[in-house]
Amino acid sequence: MEKKTFYITTPIYYPSGNAHIGHSYCTVASDAIARYKRMQGLDVMFLTGTDEHGLKIEQKAEAEGVTPKEYVDKIVLNFKNLWKLLNISNDRFIRTTDEYHVKGIQKIFRELYDRGEIYKGKYEGWYCTPCESFWTETQLKDGKCPDCGREVKWAEEEAYFFRLSKYGDRLLKLYEEHPEFIQPESRKNEMINFIKQGLGDLCVSRTSFTWGVPVDFDPKHVVYVWIDALPNYITALGYGSSDLSDYNKYWPADVHFVGKEIVRFHTIIWPAILMALDLPLPKQVYGHGWLLFGDGTKMSKSKGNVVDPYVLCQRYGVDAIRYFLLREIPFGSDGLFTNEALINRINSDLANDLGNLVSRTTAMVQKYFGGVIPEEKEADPLDQELIQMACSLKEKCDKAIDGYQFSTALSEIWKLVSRSNKYIDETMPWALGKDETKRARLAAVMYNLCESLRIVSILLAPFMPDTSPRIQAQLGLSPEECTYASSASWGVLSAQAVISKGETLFPRIDVDKEIEALNALIPNPAAQGKAASKEEPKKEGEKPQGLAMIGIDDFAKVELRVAKVVHCEPVKRAKKLLKLTLDDGSGTPRTVASGIAKWYAPEDLIGHSVIVVANLKPAMLCGVESQGMILAADVGEDARVIFADNIPAGSKIR
Ligand code: ME8
Ligand code: MG
Repeated sequence: MEKKTFYITTPIYYPSGNAHIGHSYCTVASDAIARYKRMQGLDVMFLTGTDEHGLKIEQKAEAEGVTPKEYVDKIVLNFKNLWKLLNISNDRFIRTTDEYHVKGIQKIFRELYDRGEIYKGKYEGWYCTPCESFWTETQLKDGKCPDCGREVKWAEEEAYFFRLSKYGDRLLKLYEEHPEFIQPESRKNEMINFIKQGLGDLCVSRTSFTWGVPVDFDPKHVVYVWIDALPNYITALGYGSSDLSDYNKYWPADVHFVGKEIVRFHTIIWPAILMALDLPLPKQVYGHGWLLFGDGTKMSKSKGNVVDPYVLCQRYGVDAIRYFLLREIPFGSDGLFTNEALINRINSDLANDLGNLVSRTTAMVQKYFGGVIPEEKEADPLDQELIQMACSLKEKCDKAIDGYQFSTALSEIWKLVSRSNKYIDETMPWALGKDETKRARLAAVMYNLCESLRIVSILLAPFMPDTSPRIQAQLGLSPEECTYASSASWGVLSAQAVISKGETLFPRIDVDKEIEALNALIPNPAAQGKAASKEEPKKEGEKPQGLAMIGIDDFAKVELRVAKVVHCEPVKRAKKLLKLTLDDGSGTPRTVASGIAKWYAPEDLIGHSVIVVANLKPAMLCGVESQGMILAADVGEDARVIFADNIPAGSKIR
């Protein structure tokens, strides 16, 4: 019988900077699913890759004085090496510069054109010649180019358009008939609202730069990056080539894992393209949340100070990083990445709970029985709870993984780990060991602990692929004793197994020392901001009575935007400050420190929209890099934040 297939993809990442921990997040999650499904016996296709075309890459390459291909080759190597290091088991790696992909895109573009789904039209807008960019009326700053501030002129450019506007109803119907298509549920309403506002046709070609897939029947045009990128999910399977066997076998995808900022591309544009081509649609798009960065380890590609996954893996081990990414934040939600949280998890869950259980168990089997548990065993009713919990773990993990809830699966596994540690306290093997008549009971206790660890090691493998075999080696397990099916059975470990105490799985970390060492590694781009951060209290009377008149030009220099507070927390070193993480519509979280802790608790702000001064120079405020400020009014002794809850994040205020 043919095996059931399972096709899972990550986004293809832009190689405009090295791979960072945010990319690792989605890739590790996809890898855990791919491994789990393989363990369940499915025929898995797991795809990742890089999205290499576009103006931004062209400009970056030029700045470095290399060709775009040379530029991306170097960064793609960095991505591939990181995936190797992180034990990513992808079956394929697609690059949009691969020849088969370029050919596939040209074929798809032509097919859409032949079907009348793409037509030639005119792109109109305000054009900045030096920047070679079109802007809409609202994007202009004071009537000038928002990037360089120079004059713009009204211009038209020939371009191809995709008839996206005609797919609104079919997309709404898709979401209705397949409620599982967009996950988590909360992202669906956003998409429905977006469609209900009316879809326009999509401009799908550019003539202003050349680093892209040329439209083969009109080569002064290159294909718009998203039309180049999205079909990677089918070109990687051979769509557009003469060999369609993998396409026929694996398409439609079971799930596309993507960050929440690109759910729109995957649930509106991508299905519309497939509809236009009369191809089957993916079964699900899962929009995961963002890793947000606190405690001075701020990160983003554009700021150039990324939490380096290479450094983290080197210091703590690959599995500790994988564990943290999957355990700390429910998949689908945003969550904070801090070095402190990472180290605490390593200490409590890995060193204390799991590491200790393994080392105590193996050490006791060594000590009491020289490594081999005697056949004669004496059961006790006390054992039942542990046995039942262990035998039902597989079902619980399966269920959590079906819903892509990694943190739930791991916390179920850790419940068994904790229960086993408690079992040691209850059975007190050290007391049994002193009494010759309790030998059979002691043997049963040791056996039960090893069985429980055997089951843990099997179900842990997809998440921590290095740790699992290390535990299994210490337990002397054979491959037949480590099958997925056997993780729901008790009494599998053979009587002959030789149990040996191996090296410590996870050494404990001294939190304070480690944080200090880590901080020393982080380049501090805002070092000069430190001096400015000493907030000198204003002396009474120093305040100007009024401000000089300004012209509209001066006002236009201030970029005000609506932003939604996605996270907020107190700042340890400063009672006055709250640290806010904002979604300003740019796709990159923005951190702002604000002196409003006296009037607002974090819960008062989370979920609300505020107004942020978006082009304020970043400054260090008590260890927080503040990227802007939020507007509040002085009302007597109070400060009141100005809320803008009815306005979408990213809207410009003028
Ligand atoms: O959007 N937290 O590429 P990209 C969590 N090329 N996930 C993060 C993250 C963070 N802080 N930062 C990045 C593109 N990611 C397009 C995709 S697909 C046909 C084309 C992850 O390099 C997350 O999965 O900007 C996000 O969607 C992806 O990296 C974006 O990578
Ligand atoms: Mg991005």
